[in-house]
Amino acid sequence: MTSSAAVTLPLSHLFPLSAGLSSEGRLAFDGIDVLDLAREFGTPLYIYDAQTVRAQCAAFRSAFETAYEDSFVVYGAKAFVNRPFARLIADQGLGFDAVSGGEIAVLRASGVDMSTVYFHGNNKGADELELAVEAGIGRIVIDNIDEIAKADGAAAAAGREQPVLLRISPGIDGHTHEKTTTGIIDTKFGVPIATGAAEAAVRAILDAPHLRFRGLHMHLGSPIFELGPYELAIEVISEFIAGVCRDRLGAEVQELSPGGGFAIGQGDGREPPAPEQYAKVIAGTLEREADRRGFPLPRLTIEPGRAIAARAGVALYTVGARKDVPGVRTYVSVDGGMADNIRPAMYEARYEALAAERPLAAVEETVTISGKYCESGDVLVRDAELPVLRDGELLAIPASGAYQLSMASNYNFAYRPAVVLVDGGEARLIRRRETAEDLMALDID
Ligand code: LLP
Repeated sequence: MTSSAAVTLPLSHLFPLSAGLSSEGRLAFDGIDVLDLAREFGTPLYIYDAQTVRAQCAAFRSAFETAYEDSFVVYGAKAFVNRPFARLIADQGLGFDAVSGGEIAVLRASGVDMSTVYFHGNNKGADELELAVEAGIGRIVIDNIDEIAKADGAAAAAGREQPVLLRISPGIDGHTHEKTTTGIIDTKFGVPIATGAAEAAVRAILDAPHLRFRGLHMHLGSPIFELGPYELAIEVISEFIAGVCRDRLGAEVQELSPGGGFAIGQGDGREPPAPEQYAKVIAGTLEREADRRGFPLPRLTIEPGRAIAARAGVALYTVGARKDVPGVRTYVSVDGGMADNIRPAMYEARYEALAAERPLAAVEETVTISGKYCESGDVLVRDAELPVLRDGELLAIPASGAYQLSMASNYNFAYRPAVVLVDGGEARLIRRRETAEDLMALDID
């Protein structure tokens, strides 16, 4: 089965790079027909395209390395990770941002170089700090003053000197959803500059015998469609680098991370900036500020999560029940829903859907794609324009690779979906579907 280049796939800008049509006219990835994938692996199925993952990693690396020589890209593993996926990312030369002992454990088990891992979190547990230090984590990103003594204690116990960054909350609004904004003053993340807490924290790190101060971090939120907030935040942090770290504390900021938050196209009509545009603004502002304030250029670390994984992933469902409420709405239910994709319910995230077995079929009606779980809010796509879907046919939702499976639940005892990776014309199961036995495995009678 080969993809046909002659016809353009609808929503092709949202689907993975290898998406096309099979010789039977169905949606295909890397030439593999979705019907074959569904027959072999069942639905709901999450399909990841290795080509798109590689391309996104390369796009961010090349954009930032071109704009700023000493730059390093780490993948926000919270977007989606398991062992094979971590190895795929590490092979592209990226490091990782991890936010829990669990993420550290999976990265460690996958064999990635732990010195490329950054450990984040606003309330890291003592056990997690111990695990991180013992695993040889590259950086602990200190989030608050209390954490300094805990991290120092963990490093002391391991007989290590632990490099750290300090996360600043710059007081900048990234203009994103209120549940995912993090750069403002009213946030649980990071230490504010204005209150003097950031200065006190740098001082405490410098005084901690087993910690090595390497630099600063911030993260404005996710997704950030505007470039202006990055520019403003780098200006604010540069003033802190020169005026406080250098002039008052004599500390050199060798590394600076403006975090992640790089937006993607999702079907809501908003156009994300290209990696080059983010790179130009971030690198340009930092170079200008360093020059103006006379501090050495730090290493620049960025942390894209969504922008690496989202477009690579497609959710494939089987259509089931249909309910017409005349004059009100038609519901078409699929065999997944909020257990594998909480994002529409949680962030009003907008998705698009395509009839995967006949992607070129004309639009016949507007329907609401609902899930199968016991909540009215279990809606995947409101007002999707589709042909009249038949019971049993396949429906694909693109841009599903980030924050869906990583936020998936077993609500209603749902089995979390299987995941396949298509690469080089082959589909490989990289995570099997859960079973009833999995769900009961932790019970003790
Ligand atoms: N760095 C830090 C410190 C972060 O907290 C995050 C995301 C990232 C990097 C990666 O951000 P990205 O490049 O993926 O935008 N569950 C939400 C998103 C939460 C993001 C949390 N932090 C969603 O489904 O939209």
